[in-house]
Amino acid sequence: MNMDYKKVLPHIYEGKANRLYEVEGHPEYLIIERKDDITAGNGAKHDTIEDKGFYNNKISNQLFWVLRNNSAVVPTHFVQELSDCETLIQKTNPIKLEIVVRNIATGSIIERLPFDDGQEFTNPIFELYYKDDALGDPLINHSEALALGVISERDYADIEGMALIVNDTLKEFFNEIGIILVDFKIEVGRTPQGDLIIIDEISPDTCRLWDAETRKKLDKDRFRQGLGDEAGAYREIYRRVCEQVFFIVFRDV
Ligand code: TMP
Repeated sequence: MNMDYKKVLPHIYEGKANRLYEVEGHPEYLIIERKDDITAGNGAKHDTIEDKGFYNNKISNQLFWVLRNNSAVVPTHFVQELSDCETLIQKTNPIKLEIVVRNIATGSIIERLPFDDGQEFTNPIFELYYKDDALGDPLINHSEALALGVISERDYADIEGMALIVNDTLKEFFNEIGIILVDFKIEVGRTPQGDLIIIDEISPDTCRLWDAETRKKLDKDRFRQGLGDEAGAYREIYRRVCEQVFFIVFRDV
């Protein structure tokens, strides 16, 4: 790509884990900068983890590459990695939903329903949360999503289908590197052409990832639960993900 991404305008948005910048002369793109900040409990707990922005940028971009290069292609906003913590992305109109898929019961679902912690589901569980900080991102059902006007019936089916393909693809990918994909959250945005694509990130901030042998938590639960060594966990995921992508690239040439 031949574009001067250095002509970056002041950031237009700062979230808990990233900043978004517009690029002068390129309204179709944004630059996302991943921060080292880590938060939990809707911002109630906050800290910084050394190099988290680097790990999440690299991990997310590699996982988006996996989704794009899978036989069932899943479109994402990824365009080009610009630096250790910055990536050029396609600008979309974000849908106000958090989409969660669960393979194993843990986290909020065991507070809400009588599942055992660590219990494996026969079929993945698909959930939608309405993205609204003031309301604490409540869980919503199919008809509530339609009534809120955030998505159409057709979008609902597309989003569920997309989320389950992401689950199948990443479960298999992580399985190859000795990691259990316990659950994850994704977000989607609509392109100017009207297509739904995956935005934001897929990283140890947004997935639960357990070592398959030891069941050690290698994700943000280390921070949520005060287990420590978050940087070591993110580094381990980064190392295994990069090695596997390298292996796939060279296996296919
Ligand atoms: P939960 O068990 O807390 O509902 O989380 C389910 C999955 O979604 C887990 O992988 C963590 C991820 N998640 C986020 O990425 N952001 C959030 O704000 C929440 C609540 C969960």
